[in-house]
Amino acid sequence: MNYRIVHTSDIHVWDFPVNPVLWVGKRTLGLGNLILRRARKFRKEQLLNLAATIEEDQPDHLVLSGDVSTTSLSSEFEKIHLAFQEWLGDPRSATVVPGNHDRYTQWAQRRRLFDRYFGNTTHNEPYPMIKNLTRGLDLIGFDPCRPQPISARGLAKLSHIKSLRRIVSQIHPDETKCVIFACHYPGEVPREFLRFEKGHEMVNARLVVKSLAALHCPVYWLHGHIHYPWRYPSPTASNVVYLNPGAPLLKRKTGISFGRWILDWDGVDVTAEWKSAPNSARELVDFA
Ligand SMILES: [Fe+2]
Ligand SMILES: [Fe+2]
Repeated sequence: MNYRIVHTSDIHVWDFPVNPVLWVGKRTLGLGNLILRRARKFRKEQLLNLAATIEEDQPDHLVLSGDVSTTSLSSEFEKIHLAFQEWLGDPRSATVVPGNHDRYTQWAQRRRLFDRYFGNTTHNEPYPMIKNLTRGLDLIGFDPCRPQPISARGLAKLSHIKSLRRIVSQIHPDETKCVIFACHYPGEVPREFLRFEKGHEMVNARLVVKSLAALHCPVYWLHGHIHYPWRYPSPTASNVVYLNPGAPLLKRKTGISFGRWILDWDGVDVTAEWKSAPNSARELVDFA
């Protein structure tokens, strides 16, 4: 058997709100930042090309690990939903977990905008949630994102860690041979990239890593948040490997990457391969 997951993250589709009420609060900060930097850098006109490229990868399951939007606008979520509609209608073919930009404002959070568009992919269950992908392979979705006035820090709530421990304790080693952990934030960051994490980290990350270390099977932690692609085996949990696809539509000097991870599950092991556009700007940093 072969079961293929394609994972990307941090697409950061952006838009300007039509309704001026939506310009107040944190979104003003987001939009100021956007106008100065992001509109030039995140090439949203390439979104459909990214979706077409992923279609050529022939995934059985698509994972988007957050920051699909920039300021949590309905119009941003709508664009992602349209581009990936082939997968998003069925939780068996997609999982979308939120990033901090998808829970950017209290306004969007109160209306649960992200969840209205993508909650079906996690069965509209509270996080952390678990679902079976195929025989031997489970996926856990985790959400440490919350709107904050300025900070981009995430918080793994102690109640969520408790739920995660319960989920982990109920995973049966005869049935589950590998776990995909979809969470926008990494639990650990390579030393070379620590400067990008400062002020952007997930509080209580160590407790999350420790919970996953209790599993007797490999865990692939699919994340984004820091816009550089890497593969990084956890220095503290021997069964955990972090896979970061970077930001596929972020334009750097030599172009955009279309970066994504292809994970092939053969019923026993996962083989993870990095793919990007030829001659793309940012090559993978592989710590494996
Ligand atoms: Fe991001
Ligand atoms: Fe992020």
